[in-house]
Amino acid sequence: MANLMQLLAISDLHLSQASNKDAILKMSDHGDDWLIIGGDISEKPELHEFLFKELNKRFGKIIWVPGNHDLWTEDARDQQIERGVDKYNLLVELSRSFGVITPEDPFVEWPEKLQDREGSLIIAPLFLLYDYSFRPKSVNRENIKDWVRQVHAECSDEFLLHPTPYESREQWCKARCDFSIDKLSDIPSTSTTVLINHWPLRLDLINLPRVPRFTPWCGTTITHDWHKKFRASVVISGHLHTRRTDFIDECRFEEVSLGYKRQWNPDLGIDYYLRQIMPL
Ligand SMILES: [Fe+2]
Ligand SMILES: [Fe+2]
Repeated sequence: MANLMQLLAISDLHLSQASNKDAILKMSDHGDDWLIIGGDISEKPELHEFLFKELNKRFGKIIWVPGNHDLWTEDARDQQIERGVDKYNLLVELSRSFGVITPEDPFVEWPEKLQDREGSLIIAPLFLLYDYSFRPKSVNRENIKDWVRQVHAECSDEFLLHPTPYESREQWCKARCDFSIDKLSDIPSTSTTVLINHWPLRLDLINLPRVPRFTPWCGTTITHDWHKKFRASVVISGHLHTRRTDFIDECRFEEVSLGYKRQWNPDLGIDYYLRQIMPL
């Protein structure tokens, strides 16, 4: 019997690190399989080009969502460099030029028949950002930085991820959630989904013992029940650099980060870190 086509996922490749970039060149040929890239490729668009060129040789289709590092503008003093929504749009156009599916494109249907259910499976890449709502009730929005600095530094997004032309990252997040709710609501009720977002959809999926107060930069409470509301079989995220699998309400939540060079073992090869999403 022919092997079933696979849907695979990985995130947080952080290709600015030379060893991570080298690993891409050693990746196997996966034929017609599809690959989800869950954000944090690099701050540099030229590394997105490098990645998509290499992945197009090894996969049938690539699906991409942005991470916070992708959206960073490292030298904001330079008026010529895109920031905020302009940087996102630049990456969307770059991705499309390689045939990569982005959160701005129509959702795609998984072409294989599902083994355990009727109806189609819709793959939904999302860009939702965060709004600082992942924080204790006792901490006000304006006190977050003081609360965080008691234990460790705040996220570099504060200096490098510009919300332009929105006034705040919260406003941008709200607009992204509204856009995504409209799009997800159009999926027929007979379909199940694979939801993909760089940031986790729920606070209870976050466990960061070394930086416990990093949570305000990790998502939004708006998405707490989206796995039920939008009939997800699997929810894929990255950002935390803590690879794990969780089950909530019979939905599978996959954190698929590769991470910085000390967070994975090159002896295993990068193919080891491609998480199988389908077949289930
Ligand atoms: Fe990351
Ligand atoms: Fe990230």
